[in-house]
Amino acid sequence: MKDSVYSPGAGHAPPVLAGRDELLDSWRMMLADVASMGRLRAEDTILVGPRGVGKTVTMAAFAEIAESKGFDVVSLQSSGGQAGLVPSLLHEANDRIESGASVWRRLKRVLDQIAGVSFGVAGVSASVSKHQTQTVAPTIVHPGTLAGALATLALDIQMDHPTGGLMVCVDEIQSSADSDLALIAAVLHQLNGNHRPAPVVFAATGLPKTLDVLAKAKVTHAERLFYVKGIPVTLPADAAKYAVVEPAARVGVVWDSDAADLIVAASKGYPAHLQVYAHHTWRVATGPAAITFADAQVGIEAGRDEIVSRALAPRWERMTDRRAEYTTAIALCGGEASTSTISAMLGRSAQEISWIREQAIAAGDVCVPQRGRVELAFPAMADYAIANYSKTVSESSLPLVPLEEMQSALDSRTGKEPSRDVGFATLQHPPEEEPTPGGANLGGPSI
Ligand SMILES: Nc1ncnc2c1ncn2[C@@H]1O[C@H](COP(=O)(O)OP(=O)(O)OP(=O)(O)O)[C@@H](O)[C@H]1O
Ligand SMILES: [Mg+2]
Repeated sequence: MKDSVYSPGAGHAPPVLAGRDELLDSWRMMLADVASMGRLRAEDTILVGPRGVGKTVTMAAFAEIAESKGFDVVSLQSSGGQAGLVPSLLHEANDRIESGASVWRRLKRVLDQIAGVSFGVAGVSASVSKHQTQTVAPTIVHPGTLAGALATLALDIQMDHPTGGLMVCVDEIQSSADSDLALIAAVLHQLNGNHRPAPVVFAATGLPKTLDVLAKAKVTHAERLFYVKGIPVTLPADAAKYAVVEPAARVGVVWDSDAADLIVAASKGYPAHLQVYAHHTWRVATGPAAITFADAQVGIEAGRDEIVSRALAPRWERMTDRRAEYTTAIALCGGEASTSTISAMLGRSAQEISWIREQAIAAGDVCVPQRGRVELAFPAMADYAIANYSKTVSESSLPLVPLEEMQSALDSRTGKEPSRDVGFATLQHPPEEEPTPGGANLGGPSI
């Protein structure tokens, strides 16, 4: 069928945002409180989680709710620290003024002054043009001045929209320049202390290392300033199934229940892969109004090829042999395990392997769902690692623990670590696949 209703690809809003009702409801309530009571009730939120779990689309849903209540929403561009807080706001102010929102004029005057001063101080001769977002380096901005200007803007917006205010958001906050992170934190502090009535809220997304990045940027007590909300790697099965079935139902297409279950199982509830599998299945289905188990089998095959070649194979190739060994041990446990089980399987103390764990976390292969446990950040990597690890062992110059030895160490701990039955088909390494160049980034596609 054509016109797939699914949304594969980073940042593409899904037709239904499954399993996030609680988050959205509490955001909605918080906005109502902020509109009436100001900063006292603001919960400046950072959605933290690994790649592909839905941080960006959840924040976009936050923004949509805010807009529907009459908030003006400003998205700060943070990628690579190329554009900072002040230029982003200035850019926004110019746009808003151009489209007739005169409440932004006062902020623009303040920003013009700040930008002028900071350019002057930095000794950079540049002008901020209307549509250009420029890097101000280093930005020397008094947080109190900016907080005051934002507070005034938010209150002005509220004059026209009594349930509104100002929402500032940043996607991938861990990529912001240190100076911006420090400035954002200082401005929020100032708002809390000196501008309590101001209806200003803040939301961001970030990778699991975000709190460390904030600490390095000298943002103290970030966990007290922000509400850090973890987005888990997988959706519960019922939410995952809803994400598959509901968008189709809305356009009169019915999934056979076992076909939808197959998608949920294949994706393991990982949101990015759920969309990929559902999308491919839609495309292979002949319809016109039903999607069958057989369609899902074919669609999953196509989706899996894409996931392997675009995400799993390049990521596996980039792993050092030790990281591949560590990943495979977690994979044998079903994708999630206690650190003590992993060290038993690898025959080394937790301390001895802690550096590999740190590397795997830094590379975005592994995350920490709770203290003392580790989880594969890409659930699909479990089957892929198990299928490809023996080749790595045979080619490695290091004495890696063979798969069978890991498995028997795991078996001998039976009862201590319930092994999750992953129950999914094995993903094979495509033989012709070239490794994708590029370092162990935290990025890379999540599909
Ligand atoms: N709750 C959800 N229900 C259904 N689909 C979802 C949900 N959350 C995310 N998705 C889908 O998963 C994919 C990834 O979402 P998104 O880009 O927001 O993730 P992310 O955590 O921001 O990833 P990255 O760190 O790579 O930016 C998109 O295709 C999106 O449509
Ligand atoms: Mg994102």
